Parts: sequence; structure tokens; C-alpha cells
Amino acid sequence: MGFKILAAIAMAAVVVGGLVASQYSSELLLGFQGRLGGAARENKDKRKKAKNKKRPVRVYMDGCFDMMHYGHANALRQARALGDELVVGVVSDEEIQTNKGPTVMSMQERVAMVSAVKWVDEIIEAVPYAINEEFMNKLFTDYGIDYIIHGDDPCLLPDGSDAYAHAKKAGRYKQIKRTEGVSSTDIVGRMLLCVRDRGVTESPVHTSLQRQFSNGFNSLSHDSNKGSLSAGVGTRYSHFLPTSRRIVQFSNKKGPGPEARIVYIDGAFDLFHAGHVETLKAARQLGDFLLVGIHTDLTISGHRGANHPIMHLHERSLSVLACRYVDEVIIGAPWEVSKDMITTFNISVVVHGTCAEPNDVKNGENDPYAAAKELGIFKLLESPLNMTTSTIIQRILANHEAYKKRNEKKAESENKYYQSKTYVNGD
Ligand SMILES: *[C@@H]1O[C@H](CO)[C@@H](O)[C@H](O)[C@H]1NC(C)=O
Ligand SMILES: *[C@@H]1O[C@H](CO)[C@@H](O)[C@H](O)[C@H]1NC(C)=O
Repeated sequence: MGFKILAAIAMAAVVVGGLVASQYSSELLLGFQGRLGGAARENKDKRKKAKNKKRPVRVYMDGCFDMMHYGHANALRQARALGDELVVGVVSDEEIQTNKGPTVMSMQERVAMVSAVKWVDEIIEAVPYAINEEFMNKLFTDYGIDYIIHGDDPCLLPDGSDAYAHAKKAGRYKQIKRTEGVSSTDIVGRMLLCVRDRGVTESPVHTSLQRQFSNGFNSLSHDSNKGSLSAGVGTRYSHFLPTSRRIVQFSNKKGPGPEARIVYIDGAFDLFHAGHVETLKAARQLGDFLLVGIHTDLTISGHRGANHPIMHLHERSLSVLACRYVDEVIIGAPWEVSKDMITTFNISVVVHGTCAEPNDVKNGENDPYAAAKELGIFKLLESPLNMTTSTIIQRILANHEAYKKRNEKKAESENKYYQSKTYVNGD
């Protein structure tokens, strides 16, 4: 009884609310009409409609995209969802050097990575670190940008001012949620661990770098993982929790067509880099549908050592899925490409890239591509770029002092974020 009355009152409130709302908005419209004049307003409305019809909404996002990871890819995906076309500005090496310190990847390498993300429509190279008024106006007039997008983590210039102040003031700013789970700082920490365990460079420089990066790394994990993991330098913990929703968001949501020629390539795809992208691009050109097998963490550590891979299976899968040349991934593919697998997926070509790490195939082990070779469908792809995971690690070691400084600043703001963070939704 009591419930029924309450429901009735609620219904009435909704109706009244609706009436109030519609009255309010028509009054607002009238007010505008009064100010602009009836005809002028109508014309403006028409123009706006015509503009909307023939011109897509163009959104802009900028960034350094150094050591690109699935967090960057997810930000680009979110930005793209706020418009019809996504234009991405990649900051020049010099501007990053001045504002943050040296980059690990050159601008051309960073541009290659961003261009490969399937949600990116256009790129503007060598943009300034901060959007000054002049550049902002250029975005609006020359590039037809409607909105400037940035994550909800504050982006401060060296003088402490907000890098997006102009866009905010112009009312052309939109915000997306920061992606949980990974940062470049975190990745460098993991890389240094893997070098240490391989025993390549146990120099004082390296040890200090190691401590530097893993400090930030460990302090992020100690609150939730106290007791369950040793808090030593060897702790590997990521904030990334793979949800089925995230994987669906990244997926193409369609299978091969009826006559499609399916190409299969497998690998670790650890620290997804420009070398991988070039290989995938070449592989995709051999057919109509590119299926990528991502090896399990266990398979990779068995072949490359205990601290490999640097990125976990689901992280690697997301990076590969974000690549525009990839149609589908197998999350946890077997090491050996069996005849049964070739039949199951109707694979026409099995590809292996030559940029793989040298220790991938152990002596005396069965050839994982034996079945494909027997069927005459195996193809070795010469990698256009000579880049491996080790290349990236070597660059970081070579420039340790500068990265150390850059990381100190970064780790501090990361810690602040994780201490004050609240609910983060999955979008
Ligand atoms: C299998 O792939 C071939 C192309 O290599 C294609 O012609 C054929 O239609 C595919 N079979 C099925 C059942 O999709
Ligand atoms: C590729 O890199 C490896 C290791 O850095 C080097 O030994 C090799 O000579 C390079 N090959 C080419 C073609 O640049």
C-alpha cells in the first residue's frame, strides 16, 4: 500500500518534472530567439545542421607517445569515440627534451606507432608540447578541429600552468578517463629487471637505475600486495586487470569473409614496437585477414628467461589488437603451429618475422613451423626494421642519467595519483 502511494507520487513528480523541463527549455529558446531575431536564429540553425551533415566532428589529441603501450591506445580509442575523426599531434623530440627530458623513441618511430593504431585518422607531426593560442587557432581553422581532448590527469607545463588552459577557455576541451594499469615508468622498471636477471650489465650505473625505477614501481604495489609478494626489487606487479569488456572494446568484432585468405603470424609481441608494426603490415598484405597468435607468458619465459616477457599476455594482446593491420588475436597461442590448428582456422599462409629475438628457438627443439612447411604454406618475412625488445633496453641504459631524472618527476606524480585515486570506470 505504502509502496503504491510512493510510486504514484514518484510518477507525478516525473510528469511534473517533464513539464517543468520543457517549459524551461522553450523559454530559453524564446530568449535566444529574442536576442538573435527569429530569422537570424533560423538561418544559424540551418547552417549548423548543414555543417553537421557534410562535415564530421573532428577531435584532436596530442602527446609524446614514447614507448607506446595499450594505455595510449585506449586513450586514443576513447578520444575517437568523442567524434567522427581523430587527429593526433605527436610532439617533436626537441620539445619533449626541453619539457620532460630525452625520449627513448625518435619522433619518426613514435609517429609510426601512433599511425598504426586503428582509431587514428590523421597525424600532425612535430607539434608543440603545449597548445599555445596560436597553435590552437591553427587547429581550429587549418585542421578543422572541433574539440581538443586530454586525459583527466593534470598536464602541467614547467612553469606550473595548465597545458590545456587555452582550449578550456575557448570551450573546446573534452576530457577522457585515464587508463589504469600501465605507464612508461612502470615499463622501464620492468625492463631493467629483465636485464638484471639476464646478467648482462650488473654495473653500478645499472644497479642505481634499477633501484630508481623499481622504487616507483614497488611503492605503487605495497599497499595492496603487502605480504603476498616480497617487496624486493624483483616484485612484478601491474595495476592492469584485464576485463572482458576491455578486450571487446579493442576487438574488430568481425570474422573473416567467406572467401578470405587467412594469414597467421605468431610471437611474443613484447614491448610492442615499430618493428612489430612493420612485420604485421607486411604479413597482412599476404592475404585478407590477419590472425595473430600471442604466446603465453610461460611459453616466452621458457624461451627467453624468467623475467620475460616484460608485458603480460593480456597487455600484449591489447597492444596487438589496437594495431590496424590485425584482424584477430589468439590470446595464448601454442608454440607449435599444428596441422589441426591450420585446418581449424583455415589458415592459408603461416608467417614468421625475422626480427624475433635470437634466443626464440632453442637448439634441439622441434621446429614449431614443421607442419606449415610440410604443407608448403610457410613464409619467412624479412623484417623491414631491425628492432627488438633488447634495442629498447639498450637505449635506456645508454641514456640512464637523463631517464633517471625524468623518472623521478614522473614517479612522484604517479604516486600522488594512486594515493588519491577513486573509482575508475571501464570506459
Ligand atoms: C578457406 O580459405 C580459402 C582461401 O585460402 C577460401 O577460398 C575458402 O573459401 C576458405 N574456406 C572456408 C570454409 O571459409
Ligand atoms: C640488427 O641489429 C643487430 C643487433 O643490434 C646487429 O648485430 C645487426 O648487425 C643489425 N642488422 C642490420 C641489418 O642492421
